[in-house]
Amino acid sequence: MTTKQLQEEILTLKKKNDVVILAHYYQPIEIQEIADFLGDSLGLSRTAKEKVNSEYIIFAGVDFMAETASILNPNKHVLIPNPESCCPMAAFLTPEMVRQFKEIHPSLPTIVYVNSTAAVKAEADICCTSANAVKIVEKISHEFDVNSVLFGPDANLADYAEQISKIKTIKMPDEGHCYVHSQITIEDIKAVKEKYPKAKLIVHPECIRQVRDLSDYVGSTTRMYNYVKENSAKINEFIIGTEVGLLERLIQDFPDKNFNLAKEKLVCYNMKKHNLELIKYLLENLDDKAFEVKVPPEIANKAIKPIEKMLEFS
Ligand code: 13P
Ligand code: SF4
Repeated sequence: MTTKQLQEEILTLKKKNDVVILAHYYQPIEIQEIADFLGDSLGLSRTAKEKVNSEYIIFAGVDFMAETASILNPNKHVLIPNPESCCPMAAFLTPEMVRQFKEIHPSLPTIVYVNSTAAVKAEADICCTSANAVKIVEKISHEFDVNSVLFGPDANLADYAEQISKIKTIKMPDEGHCYVHSQITIEDIKAVKEKYPKAKLIVHPECIRQVRDLSDYVGSTTRMYNYVKENSAKINEFIIGTEVGLLERLIQDFPDKNFNLAKEKLVCYNMKKHNLELIKYLLENLDDKAFEVKVPPEIANKAIKPIEKMLEFS
């Protein structure tokens, strides 16, 4: 069966069932094409909470994204095409570590990046995504009347939020990072800029500070997309410092512009664990519990508070 035929079958099955497909920008392009909603972590959380009326949500993203959708929709069935699709960054922070940090700094608010387990979220005062990290640091430090916050697990996003907000972020832990974004080095940037001197460089805030400092724009995947959209009338060339899925989306949506990756092979292998065959299987087997994402209620009831607070604040 060709990709086109599979996509058509999926669209037909989707119409017959009460299903909505949410997909992150890092999904393979053939999945992006059949999604009802495409977005960054914040946009997808908002969509899951505010716009989805169907009984079933198929979530083409990594596990923490599907878990967040499930926590926000306890009465819906959230299904993940490949349950092994996880974000390795989440493993940098355990609930025990958060409790230890809180014991050492009892007066500071705890901000947990959504790229974390539900059990870690359950320990937080508020969550954040890459799109709202600066705003959340500013607002929660103001609410607690402090000049520092606890922030984990991404030390680069914490550093970015600190750089812009001037509020100190205590990293939980110092070494938390994304293997996709942190592999981009200053040398890569110098080389790609030399090759495309007229291009604007736009990067994700999970990149290291030295890379962010060399860029023209820093933002979440949706913000990077919007930067291209807003500037496409006057800029022809862009260098993209994030996962290849966003590059594929941009190439499709802006065919007369030139896009280049900041370095080769910026691939999140976990995001690429989903495929059309798995989505078709799910649509034909909506009640296969092996694919349903469920967070134990005792954790979900705690984790929902920092997630909802984040949505309120952003
Ligand atoms: P966004 O907040 O841009 O969706 O990023 C999520 C992510 O996992 C980045 O690696
Ligand atoms: Fe996690 Fe990085 Fe993949 Fe995003 S790109 S899901 S942070 S490993």
